[in-house]
Amino acid sequence: MSAVLELAPLRAADGAAVEALLDAAFGPDRRGRTAYRLREGAEPVAALSFAAFDEAGALAGSLQCWPILLAADGGNCHSLVLLGPVAVAPMRQGEGIGRGLMCAALAAADDVGVPALALVGDAPYYGRFGFDASRTAGWRLPGPWEPSRLLARFAPGAALPARGLLVPALPRAADWA
Ligand SMILES: CC(C)(COP(=O)(O)OP(=O)(O)OC[C@H]1O[C@@H](n2cnc3c(N)ncnc32)[C@H](O)[C@@H]1OP(=O)(O)O)[C@@H](O)C(=O)NCCC(=O)NCCS
Repeated sequence: MSAVLELAPLRAADGAAVEALLDAAFGPDRRGRTAYRLREGAEPVAALSFAAFDEAGALAGSLQCWPILLAADGGNCHSLVLLGPVAVAPMRQGEGIGRGLMCAALAAADDVGVPALALVGDAPYYGRFGFDASRTAGWRLPGPWEPSRLLARFAPGAALPARGLLVPALPRAADWA
């Protein structure tokens, strides 16, 4: 079944509906995940965050991106973007909604010159979008993580330090575009 839905900026979605969708996709204990510590005090990057609405106008999927920093072991801080969570309503999974959200976010990230996006997630899924763990082995998170699930996608020619700690970015850094 193909999904011809409306993709829109995330701000078009009701915040409570987004939270309910995330609970349905990940379970209510999702907030204990380390990735959430990287989002503390920040707002999603508006230009890189999207919602999908079904034919009846109900929220069917969402993708959020967040500003984060790589605090390099050498001392400098480098801006990048944390992608996720990506969630599709359980009844609508497997219809291409996730792919549509990912393509929208990655195209927008490329348009505004984001050097790298990082995420914590399933490599078999995100690998198809250019994410892998080949350059993240020296990155650390403010909580437990599985190294094989810390993935990144770099813009062509972009480089970031090989070793450092990922931390939340200041709220004022939330606007890339
Ligand atoms: C993962 C998720 C966002 C994908 O969205 P979706 O709209 O269902 O996916 P699409 O229809 O665009 O793509 C379906 C493809 O992704 C694959 N896929 C879905 N979840 C996967 C996973 N966790 N690992 C590997 N592949 C996965 C499917 O097998 C299918 O593969 P195919 O195209 O080769 O048949 C959605 O299923 C979801 O919300 N899952 C629960 C939350 C979650 O796990 N989120 C992120 C993963 S860390």
